[in-house]
Amino acid sequence: MSWLADTLKTWHEKRVARLIRRKSMIDAVRAASLLELAQRIDAEQIAGDVVECGVYRGGSAATMARVATHSPMRRTVWLFDSFQGMPPVTEADGPGAEDWVGALAYDARKVEKLLRRTGADLSRVRIVEGFFADTFRTVEIPRIALLNVDSDWYESVKLCFERFYDAVAPGGFVSIDDYGTWPGCRKAVDEFFVKRGLNHKMNRVDETAFWFQKTEGGETR
Ligand SMILES: C[S@@+](CC[C@H](N)C(=O)[O-])C[C@H]1O[C@@H](n2cnc3c(N)ncnc32)[C@H](O)[C@@H]1O
Repeated sequence: MSWLADTLKTWHEKRVARLIRRKSMIDAVRAASLLELAQRIDAEQIAGDVVECGVYRGGSAATMARVATHSPMRRTVWLFDSFQGMPPVTEADGPGAEDWVGALAYDARKVEKLLRRTGADLSRVRIVEGFFADTFRTVEIPRIALLNVDSDWYESVKLCFERFYDAVAPGGFVSIDDYGTWPGCRKAVDEFFVKRGLNHKMNRVDETAFWFQKTEGGETR
């Protein structure tokens, strides 16, 4: 590659990273982890779609979609959010959660714009607007290669696992943004693991985000 092409590529990459950073609640470390998982599903030839539950302004979605929508494995990227702000909490969500109810409302069209500007192929993206309790049953996603759960609350995370865990392909990945931060999120995941007899190894990204790979060994029954 010529010096000019190299320089333009670096400039473009920096611009994209800046755009994504501005529209994301996740930091650079968590973004790097999601990017790595989006690349690993190609490298490890895990067929299936990419699903995100909890989109907000689209930072993490853009990180995954700019890779996944151009995958030779022809993936669709599904993005689920009410875009109406955080829903009501339950006792499991712990102190401080109540303050977030109604916060983080956003415009789904702006997410679309971010995805376009950061290089995603929008023909492979489906933004599903509405509360999970209403929207999850309207879709059919038979196989998931990467599931990103970033919806904070006990009830929301529980719905994500109940609806999508079984569709995650063997060798596929599940990333949970709030496992180390929000007690309701951790409780929903831990309860699901116990109920389903799972012992997948949890990999720590930082103090809040964790991910696991769905392996046969992690399914004890
Ligand atoms: C922490 S934000 C997501 C941050 C985003 N992934 C990023 O990169 O910045 C959590 C999102 O989850 C959504 N959410 C939480 N529970 C939901 C539910 N039950 N139904 C629909 N959306 C929900 C909220 O609307 C909010 O936009």
